Amino acid sequence: MKKEILQFGNGAIRENEWNMLSKFIDENNIKNILEIGCGYSTILLSKKDINKLISLDTNKKWIEIVRSNLSRQNIELIEYNYPDFPNIEDSFDLVFVDGPASSKYYEGRKHSMVFAQKKAKFIAIHDYSRKEERKAIDEVFKSLLVVDRIGSLIIVSNQK
Ligand SMILES: C[S@@+](CC[C@H](N)C(=O)[O-])C[C@H]1O[C@@H](n2cnc3c(N)ncnc32)[C@H](O)[C@@H]1O
Repeated sequence: MKKEILQFGNGAIRENEWNMLSKFIDENNIKNILEIGCGYSTILLSKKDINKLISLDTNKKWIEIVRSNLSRQNIELIEYNYPDFPNIEDSFDLVFVDGPASSKYYEGRKHSMVFAQKKAKFIAIHDYSRKEERKAIDEVFKSLLVVDRIGSLIIVSNQK
């Protein structure tokens, strides 16, 4: 994303993708969310009827931009530097994997999905239609139980 404007698209979730994710959160009683890769989606998620939202990103400046645009401050925004990954004990109803970018941190992107596999009931994965991201998904998941899909966003039910 080049612009420092928090809005749909430009690397952020698109409006139709958000509509699907938002409906999924409502219909499946999703209350605890971990997001990997913050942005406009963090602002949108923070307005949902949820109990907990933790969002991770590798870019400190970006985190500060997102933080300054949040109207609710009960969100944990955590900076990390891959391969150091924060020690998060909690489990989540949903992990939204939207970072780090595979082009820069391919192993980091894979790690986000491995972490989600351990911790989530459902996993939303963005950039599904990008070649590099798709490769990382295929390397991590033996099979995908896709429960919803639109544009470049898929939601999978986590099979353990
Ligand atoms: C793909 S975006 C996540 C988008 C978010 N989940 C959303 O849907 O709005 C996350 C990555 O983009 C980077 N990023 C995006 N826009 C940026 C900007 N304007 N300046 C710096 N970094 C940016 C972040 O550091 C992070 O690594």
